[in-house]
Amino acid sequence: MIGNDLKYAAGLLAAGELVAIPTETVYGLAGNALNTKAVAQIFAVKDRPSFDPLIIHTSSVDRLVEWTEALPAELYRLAEAFMPGPLTLLLNKLPAISDLVTAGSARVAVRIPSHPMTQELLGQLDFPLAAPSANPFGYISPTTARHVADQLGEKIPYILDGGPCSVGLESTIVGFEEERLTVFRKGGLSVEDIESVAGPVVVREHSSSNPQAPGMLKSHYAPRVPLQLGELKKLLEGKDRQRIGTLVFQQEVKGIAPHQQVVLSPAGDLQEAAQHLFAALRQLDNMDLDVILAEYFPEEGLGRAINDRLKRASVRE
Ligand code: TXA
Ligand code: MG
Repeated sequence: MIGNDLKYAAGLLAAGELVAIPTETVYGLAGNALNTKAVAQIFAVKDRPSFDPLIIHTSSVDRLVEWTEALPAELYRLAEAFMPGPLTLLLNKLPAISDLVTAGSARVAVRIPSHPMTQELLGQLDFPLAAPSANPFGYISPTTARHVADQLGEKIPYILDGGPCSVGLESTIVGFEEERLTVFRKGGLSVEDIESVAGPVVVREHSSSNPQAPGMLKSHYAPRVPLQLGELKKLLEGKDRQRIGTLVFQQEVKGIAPHQQVVLSPAGDLQEAAQHLFAALRQLDNMDLDVILAEYFPEEGLGRAINDRLKRASVRE
């Protein structure tokens, strides 16, 4: 069921049930992070491997003292600047957070969403919510309540509808690695914004052998229709007989029917493009196409995270 009854949602969560929640990044599949059964249920509903840890969500940085060690100075500065918002920090966990949530790691990922409905919900709860993106493992993250309902609607009792997500990309994950401040996953907060507060950071590309953040696994966020990423002119060669969809930044491609094309931001605004990216991928994936062709976005600001998602979507394994 889709609705906007916060009291009902809070009651379900307190009873150990799962509820899909809106955040400014993407919709989350939420359960009480302190309730082992609820956490296990999240993995089951998503069909997610248990080695892939979950982010916990609460309403303010002050409340983290119950669940994490104190923030190191650099991360505290980032928290002050960007929380609530599309930022996730990796912090040393306290025993209250189980190994199931962190997949055995001594660190827990934490996020303070700014979405007003979810802020209010979290404020009413005396436990944090574990919430991965509310999609089946490996598929595109949902940015509307309808996206969630289409894929998980029958498996969960309630979906809180907070409208379309304003950021549209998952949070940027930051923590320390070998004592250096590191971006583990590019996301809705740009690397430039982070560096403006924290100075230069290391930006990790994926590592599929021993992923610290499996959101960094190569094949992730993938539509069912094969997606090819590159220079459109080249990609179009030899495809005369194929049904082609295109995903482009500002301008339609000549020779392809307009209804098979998605232009993410005619004005060239990367924020707007990010906001619509996942809905566009879903839209194209639900059309009768042989292939989706996408172009690279400018490698700056949110364009870096957009390119990252497109690269992962284009890998077929
Ligand atoms: O924007 C977001 O971050 C959304 C919303 C719902 O908050 N959540 C989200 O969760 O994208 P999920 O589970 O789809 O992706 C979380 C990523 C995974 O790649 C996971 O491996 C990584 O965070 N992660 C979580 N806990 C971690 C930990 N303790 N150490 C390293 N990576 C961690
Ligand atoms: Mg995810």
